[in-house]
Amino acid sequence: MNFRYMGAVVVAGLVLVAAASTAQQEPPAKSTTAVHHAPTNLKVLPKDISSEELHARMRQYVSEVGVPCGYCHAENPQTGKLDFASDDNPVKETARFMIKMTDDINTKYLAQLGDRRYSPAFTCGSCHQGQPEPPTFVPKASTPKDSVAKP
Ligand code: HEC
Ligand code: HEC
Repeated sequence: MNFRYMGAVVVAGLVLVAAASTAQQEPPAKSTTAVHHAPTNLKVLPKDISSEELHARMRQYVSEVGVPCGYCHAENPQTGKLDFASDDNPVKETARFMIKMTDDINTKYLAQLGDRRYSPAFTCGSCHQGQPEPPTFVPKASTPKDSVAKP
């Protein structure tokens, strides 16, 4: 048996081990996606939104507004877990208002410009900048070059 042959046997063995271990990991991955069930209390987002799209939006709110899920969603006092369909947390209603407002800015106002040269879409982060309270604009102390009178 030469070294090249031994190498081939080792590689083939590793491929088999890798194939066997990925096959074993599959069932748990499937069961976690099955946990998501269809939303029951959507008032502003499209009712036929996919689970992936809904969760992508929620993760976007978390990062752009800089808050955890529980900032907008109410906790079930019995289970201590978040009840996503519940409207008991008033912040959720504020967030619905914000979703509609952001949608209107894009579809009713910015869309009328026709040629958009800047950002493709206005988002929660455009105002919030990763914070629940949108930061106040603080002008720089220096005079902008454009406003300096030309000789
Ligand atoms: C900034 C506030 C906010 C944050 C943060 C947020 N959500 Fe939501 N979520 C909402 C609003 C508002 C709705 C309802 C949308 C509607 O009425 O169309 C909603 C709806 C949902 C629903 C659908 C519930 C149903 O059955 O109708 C799920 C599930 C959900 N959120 C999960 C999450 C998860 C998970 C997180 C954290 C990763 C999260 N949300 C973070 C505001 C938020
Ligand atoms: C045009 C700017 C703007 C955009 C876009 C915007 N917000 Fe807001 N948002 C504000 C302002 C300003 C406040 C504070 C209102 C106040 O003074 O009570 C606020 C408040 C909030 C609050 C309440 C925070 C609290 O502690 O009471 C939540 C939650 C929120 N926004 C979520 C969102 C989400 C989610 C989006 C995107 C879908 C979004 N906002 C888009 C300007 C914006």
